[in-house]
Amino acid sequence: MRNEIRHIAIIMDGNGRWAEAQGKKRVKGHEKGAEVVRDITTFCSIHKEIERLTLYAFSTENWKRPKYEVDFLMKLLDGWLKKELPIYLENDIRFKAIGDISGFSTKLQKTIQDIEKKTLACKGLTQSLALNYGSKDEVIRAVKSLIKQNIEVTEASLEYALDTSMPVDILIRSGGDKRLSNFLLWQSAYAELFFTETLWPDFTPDELQSILENFKKIERRFGGLK
Ligand code: IPE
Ligand code: IPE
Ligand code: MG
Repeated sequence: MRNEIRHIAIIMDGNGRWAEAQGKKRVKGHEKGAEVVRDITTFCSIHKEIERLTLYAFSTENWKRPKYEVDFLMKLLDGWLKKELPIYLENDIRFKAIGDISGFSTKLQKTIQDIEKKTLACKGLTQSLALNYGSKDEVIRAVKSLIKQNIEVTEASLEYALDTSMPVDILIRSGGDKRLSNFLLWQSAYAELFFTETLWPDFTPDELQSILENFKKIERRFGGLK
């Protein structure tokens, strides 16, 4: 059987370098990157096989960046989510945040929760944005919640307590670096990894399509034999 594609996860890296290469400010790369998010999301929503697209938008480590850039990203996210709502509804896309959004301003938290609520009935693709997300933080939050509820920590209970329990089939990182940067470490235990030199603002549905085709040819064994 050809590999099923249920969950695609993307580390959208290279926005800053894309802008700098054109003599622009780094944040211009984030603006262009946000446009690409829309293209890739609508492409995935047309592919009926894909159930979930998880996009790494802001890591628990990204707070280390200059205040100007962090503030810009927060504002961009707030405005972008509000603008995306009709696109989600038109394409039957459900929006869901993963990560610890309590680290954001009350205003941004409200926007996130509002878009989640308004797209709750959408039955097509789920677009999951990783916001103030780090795998280590996610695991710690999950373990703490199990302890608090007096639930035994098992592989199944821990998996269920994570922000997302769906295993990743395809993990893509743009921008040329070959690392996971604290993204979906548990869920990617058996993910197929694709690294591309393309900077995120230049990433296209065509490139994603060719990754999907390559994924179909891989023999996934999950520790077993063919
Ligand atoms: C990824 O692009 C987007 C975020 C982390 C918000 P970068 O901003 O990391 O771009 P580069 O890697 O510096 O080019
Ligand atoms: C990973 O990119 C985080 C996101 C894409 C949101 P980074 O640019 O933060 O990762 P490092 O610092 O190169 O590992
Ligand atoms: Mg980067």
